[in-house]
Amino acid sequence: TPGHIEVLPIAGRIGAEIKGVSLNADLDTQTVKTIREALLQHKVIFIRDQHQLDDAGQEAFARLLGDPVAHPTVPIKTGTDYVLELDSAHGGRADSWHTDVTFVDAYPQASVLRAVVVPASGGDTVWANTAAAYEHLPSELRTLVDQLWALHSNDYDYAAQRPEVSPEKERHHREVFASTVYETEHPIVRVHPETGERTLVLGHFAKKILGLSSADSAQLLSLLQGHITKLENTVRWRWSAGDVVIWDNRATQHYAINDYGDQHRIVRRVTVDGDIPVGIDG
Ligand code: SIN
Repeated sequence: TPGHIEVLPIAGRIGAEIKGVSLNADLDTQTVKTIREALLQHKVIFIRDQHQLDDAGQEAFARLLGDPVAHPTVPIKTGTDYVLELDSAHGGRADSWHTDVTFVDAYPQASVLRAVVVPASGGDTVWANTAAAYEHLPSELRTLVDQLWALHSNDYDYAAQRPEVSPEKERHHREVFASTVYETEHPIVRVHPETGERTLVLGHFAKKILGLSSADSAQLLSLLQGHITKLENTVRWRWSAGDVVIWDNRATQHYAINDYGDQHRIVRRVTVDGDIPVGIDG
């Protein structure tokens, strides 16, 4: 019953584990409300031992949070409507800091990720709270970023980022992950539509700050990413199979640590549709 649900914060600024809930399509409204409120407050929610969920169950649970939406470029898992499978054996290693799918105008509000196969060691994921990051910026930097916009695109230059990536591998990634090039502009500071907090919209897909030279843009992006990913703004999760993690994609970035070599890791993600970011001037 809802009375048994516990919300246990993990790190000081982000993350909580929810205990006493079995996720399914028929959760009562009070339980869904508790999950939603915990998500808004803690930004990322961890729920262990959800072995009852299969792909369809994960999709049905995600529907309680909003409208699921398929990834715009990566083919969905066969037999599902929305599931994005990240399989380490097929290059599914999201090892750079990002907010999901910010290269489209109305990017997802939330993601629901389920661990299916986990390495014996390694393969943790880290999330950063972009509202806390904004709040803890020096006021001079807040004033600067309040006015700025960035270009986001999925046209990712793998070779520039990682010299070890071969041209063949890069071509493969382009085919799979960027079959269509998307580009959009977002305010760097977004007013969260539910909490009213200011959050920073940056990460992997943010290619350039508008109005700056490429060199200045790269330096400022790097400086801001450094603030966002300060350890104080983060929480790290050691996965077990059956864990489900839900994050507020409007207030977080995340990074899947690629430290498990040839061990196998499979996670499955369902994202929930969001709305177009609104900056501080409306
Ligand atoms: C993702 O970026 O959505 C996946 C994160 C992970 O593999 O842990």
